[in-house]
Amino acid sequence: MTIWRDKIDPKITTLMMRMAKSQIDFGVKEIVVDHTKIRKKRRELLLTGQAKKPVALFGSLESHEKAINCCQKCPLGETRTKFVYGVGNPHAGIMFVGEAPGRDEDLKGEPFVGRAGQLLDKILAAINFKRGDVYIANILKCRPPENRDPQPAEMELCLPHLMEQINIIRPKIICALGRISAQALLKTSTPLSKLRLRWHEFNHIPFIVTYHPAALLRFPDYKKDCWEDVKMLRAKYDQLIAEKM
Ligand code: URA
Repeated sequence: MTIWRDKIDPKITTLMMRMAKSQIDFGVKEIVVDHTKIRKKRRELLLTGQAKKPVALFGSLESHEKAINCCQKCPLGETRTKFVYGVGNPHAGIMFVGEAPGRDEDLKGEPFVGRAGQLLDKILAAINFKRGDVYIANILKCRPPENRDPQPAEMELCLPHLMEQINIIRPKIICALGRISAQALLKTSTPLSKLRLRWHEFNHIPFIVTYHPAALLRFPDYKKDCWEDVKMLRAKYDQLIAEKM
């Protein structure tokens, strides 16, 4: 870090150091420094007095994906076919977070494209959204072999990628799909049944939990509970939009 100090505008040193450090933590090989963005962000933080709010370190999802899609921070980097970054509207009001790519997702490089994904599309349609209206990502960006559950160490290493996606998109609502995603983000071991049907907060963002679509394929009786969850989600979204108008 010290070798760059003399090349950095002293007024932006702290923020730049923070950005560079986070990028190193993300595992990027080349540090991306966008001076215009840093100045804009710094001004914004100072003017609004919100310096403690999470700040996106990349200017766009594309630049973030480009920087991390060769990630080898855990052994899943070796076994994946494709890095599964995320899909959808970069300005989405709602972000859905699943667990990890499965076989179909690993081959295509896109989350939720298999049977569970088709069901997710139907759930979205039931509350009047299309896949392109929302943003969909996973806790893990690479497929665990044989679709086993993500391991805690893998999730810990991969979570900064998701955090940055959240900071870039700044959704109004996050919906965790399934126990693994809900527990990982809320840092709890509370069972899914006790996390549903109420609002949580994740980094000041309203956060709701529902069943993973794959669980609904196995246990169709849970679909009516999922319907209750997503109705709550839609109502909250409409309320937040109305409050802004
Ligand atoms: N299950 C997940 O959690 N994510 C996917 O992308 C596909 C299946």
